[in-house]
Parts: sequence; C-alpha cells; structure tokens
Amino acid sequence: MTALPRIAIFISGTGSNMEALIRAMRRGCWAVPALVVSDTARAPGLRRAQDLCVPTRVITQNPDIERVLSETAIDVICLAGFMRILAPSFVRPRAGRILNIHPSLLPKYPGLNTHARALDAGDSETGCTVHLVTEAVDKGFILGQRRVPIRNGDTSEILSERVLKEEHKLYPDVLRRFARGYGCATGPLSAA
Ligand code: GAR
Repeated sequence: MTALPRIAIFISGTGSNMEALIRAMRRGCWAVPALVVSDTARAPGLRRAQDLCVPTRVITQNPDIERVLSETAIDVICLAGFMRILAPSFVRPRAGRILNIHPSLLPKYPGLNTHARALDAGDSETGCTVHLVTEAVDKGFILGQRRVPIRNGDTSEILSERVLKEEHKLYPDVLRRFARGYGCATGPLSAA
C-alpha cells in the first residue's frame, strides 16, 4: 500500500480554508492532515484545528519551522491565509511542494487588498487562484482558478465572502489532484 501524502497547513487567521482542506482529506482519505502551523497564537484557526483533532504548532521563527517539519515528516505544505512571506532559503529547496491560495485571478492583483482593487478598477469579475509558491510572491505556477461575478453595490466584505465560498471548493479540488499525482516518491519535506 502506498502511504498517503502528509499535509501541513499554514495559517494566520480564521482558518476557513484550512477547515475545508481538513474535512475534504478526512472525507476522501486521499491525504493526511498531519499538522497545522500558525505564525500567531491569536489565530482563531488554531482552535478550529484542535476541534478537528489535528496537531497544532505556533511558530514565529524560520529555524523552528525547519525543526517541526523534520519531526513531523511532512510531504506538502498548503498556505491557507498565511500572511507571512516565507524566506527564499525555505522555499527554494521545497519548490513544487508548497501551495498557496490567493483571493484574485492571478496574475491580476498579487499582494494585499485584492477585492478593493478589483472594485476600484471596475472589474466585472474576480475569483481565486491556487498556485505553487516560489520566491517571487504570488507568481508561481497556477494549478487552478475559480471565477466569481462582481455585482452592482458589492463591497469588499461582500466580495470577500463570495470569493471565500469558491476558495473552499477550489483548494480541496486542487490539492486532491495534486496529491494523486504526487505520491510520496520524493520523501518528506524535511529532507529537502
Ligand atoms: C483567504 O481569502 C485567502 O485567500 C487569503 O486570506 C483569506 C484567509 O481566510 N489569503 C491571502 O490573502 C494570501 N495572500 P481563511 O483564514 O478563512 O482561510
């Protein structure tokens, strides 16, 4: 039997994408939600992860991330509302094994405040993107996108909620496909 890929999810906030990923992995048994890492002890997502019986760690220093990954044998990292930029020295050896979800149709609107920027530009649609993480922020290979209409009277908050619903479908879909093609042939991330 081939071992299932072990996934670490990195969060900074609410953790709604994290929860969607964990529930999808549990439902389909195609990967193991092995660890949730937050860069702040105040992230509400930590409690959500604990309620779902996934081990959590709060890590604020890059060397500590390396140590935890080596203890936990992680194959793939999913950034899910993780608002810290990972050091190139962390990303480079793990190229192709870190995914991120971003609330825009990349390459449009990398960075922050994506919904306000789409509204200001008068766009008729926006969406979300799952991409591979590279040293250049929000520029890595695009694995999947979902489109969302922008309607008259939309605010950033309304748009954020509409996009988030699509994120919760997109991220598990992309990760499931990624995990299927991935196997565990390349070994744990700590050995990168
Ligand atoms: C999501 O909309 C995600 O796309 C965004 O933060 C939100 C996290 O929500 N990520 C970024 O902006 C990364 N640059 P969640 O904590 O409820 O999943």
